[in-house]
Amino acid sequence: MTQNSLGESAVQQEVQGKNNGVGANITQTQPLWLLAEVTYRCPLQCAFCYNPTDYDKHTQNELSTEQWIQALRDARKMGAIQLGISGGEPLLRDDIEDIVVEAKKLGYYSNLITSGVGLTEKRIQAFKEGGLDHIQLSMHDITEEINNFITNTKTFQLKKKVAAMIKSHGYPMVLNVVIHRYNIGHMKEILEMAEALDADYVELANTQYYGWSLVNRAQLMPQKEQIEEAERITNEFRERVGNKMKVFFVVPDYFDNRPKKCMNGWGEVFMIVTADGDVLPCHSARVLPNIEFPNVREHGLEYAWKESPAFNKYRGDDWMKEPCRSCSEKENDLGGCRCQAFLLSGDAESADPVCTKSPNRHLIDQAIEDSKNPQLTEKPIIFRTNANSKKYAEGDKERIEDFHATP
Ligand code: FES
Repeated sequence: MTQNSLGESAVQQEVQGKNNGVGANITQTQPLWLLAEVTYRCPLQCAFCYNPTDYDKHTQNELSTEQWIQALRDARKMGAIQLGISGGEPLLRDDIEDIVVEAKKLGYYSNLITSGVGLTEKRIQAFKEGGLDHIQLSMHDITEEINNFITNTKTFQLKKKVAAMIKSHGYPMVLNVVIHRYNIGHMKEILEMAEALDADYVELANTQYYGWSLVNRAQLMPQKEQIEEAERITNEFRERVGNKMKVFFVVPDYFDNRPKKCMNGWGEVFMIVTADGDVLPCHSARVLPNIEFPNVREHGLEYAWKESPAFNKYRGDDWMKEPCRSCSEKENDLGGCRCQAFLLSGDAESADPVCTKSPNRHLIDQAIEDSKNPQLTEKPIIFRTNANSKKYAEGDKERIEDFHATP
């Protein structure tokens, strides 16, 4: 899954369209989206994965089926209507069928976000009968070489089979393709592949730089001209196919002048429960310093959402300093992304460096320059492996050099 997969996703827009009646009762003080990151285990080792690089320390204590079901009930009581079941690879758990059944009972619009590994005829049948609404499948490229390289696995043929299986069970075909330097030159072919698979929605999610993709940023970042060309091809394709397929092109914010309103605002509509029960307002929040996140084992979701210091910390604009505080755009972007601000500048309360008013914008410009520097771009990629994550968890970053793989 990608950082993009919630904020502007095809599924979200579809769901909002379908649940207008329910949405009308929901105020901004209630969570609308519950993302259940049910496991950090994953058979893929994607170079751009948004999961924390130190996920290894969160793998030992996964919530039980009963705890997930309780979390679903609690969030539904608070107004959540959209459920994402994600990971890692959620299908590595054998209780997703039970979670789907409960989600249906509770009235969620549910979406399984998967690499496709582990999806069998038997399981998809059970999901269909259980009432799962959507399956979002990640695809990586039209070539076996790049698919297998970027995921560090041999999964190309399997993904095509899974795509056909999803369609044959009457699900809308929802594809998510993370875009980076290795596949951006194949945009036309990727869209043609989506067409051949009879896709209903395609999300072209330009890589955003968190987790593993931040580690591999210089190697993954395409050039501005490549992004512009990719967008041009996408627009041409849209014109040709019309309403037959909805294509979302998520622009990478490094190449923008204005920051994004991350997660639609901290603690405004999204609530994420991690594999080990932490409750977060965004995927990356645990990188932020001096915040203790509530855990469902100790507190209910209602406490987490309404009362916990973590969820209240960046709500509204009291926390802002200049230039955000007096900026006329502050209500539109809320100062951008707290995690990006911290990851790049070391100051979580500073303006998102993407903003041209930020005193740290040079950090973004430098990253763009770095993506043109062969000494950096030719460095081997660090893949999302358990061994690499263990090193990060132990704080032993240098030794990760030993685990490099090369294209
Ligand atoms: Fe943007 Fe955490 S990822 S606030």
